[in-house]
Amino acid sequence: MSFKPPLPLRAWTPPEWADAALKDPEGLLSDHAHNEKKATLTALSLVHAFSDDNRPAILLSRLAEEEAQHFRRVLEALEAFGWKLRPDRGNRHAQALLAAKDRDRGADPLLDRLLIGSLIEARSCERLWLIEQAAQGHAELANPQWLAFLLELERCEAGHALTYLRLAQERFPDADSRMDWWLDREAEVVAGLAWRSAVH
Ligand SMILES: [Fe+2]
Ligand SMILES: [Fe+2]
Repeated sequence: MSFKPPLPLRAWTPPEWADAALKDPEGLLSDHAHNEKKATLTALSLVHAFSDDNRPAILLSRLAEEEAQHFRRVLEALEAFGWKLRPDRGNRHAQALLAAKDRDRGADPLLDRLLIGSLIEARSCERLWLIEQAAQGHAELANPQWLAFLLELERCEAGHALTYLRLAQERFPDADSRMDWWLDREAEVVAGLAWRSAVH
C-alpha cells in the first residue's frame, strides 16, 4: 500500500528507519506519549492567538481534545504492554524547526508556529505509517488492535497537518510562500537527525 502525505514533504524517511525505531518499542511508545502531550499543549496555547475569532479557536480546541485523547490512549497502550512511561527525551525535529524559526525572523511568529505545527503533524503521519508497516512483522506489536490504533493516529495527524495549514492560509496571505521556504528547512532538519526509537 502506498502512502499519501498531507503535505508535499521534500525528504522521505527510508523504510529501514522503522526497523531501527522498533528496536526499542517501549522507548518508541513512551516517546510518542510525550509527543501527544506536547501536541495537546501546543494546540491549546495557540488558542490565545485566535481569541478574537471563534472558528479557529473551535478548530484548535477540537485538535487539542484529539491530542489529549491520543496521549491517554498511548499511556493505556503502555500499560497494556506492561511498559513504563520514561522521561521525556525531547522532540529533536520540533526543536530544530523552532531553532530555525528563531534564526530567521522573516515572517510573523504566529504564521511560523502554525506552519511548524503543520510540518510536525505531517512528518508524524509519514513515520506512523512506516511504523505501522514494520509493526506487521513485529513480535510484540503485530496485533490487530494496536495496528488499527496506529492507522487511526496516522489519519488523525494528517488531518491536523491540514488544519494548521488552513488556519495559516486563512489569516496570512503569504502562508503558501512561507510554507515553500519551510518545506526546504524541514527536509534539511530531517536529513540531519540520527535514527533512534522515537517518531522524530
Ligand atoms: Fe496525536
Ligand atoms: Fe496531531
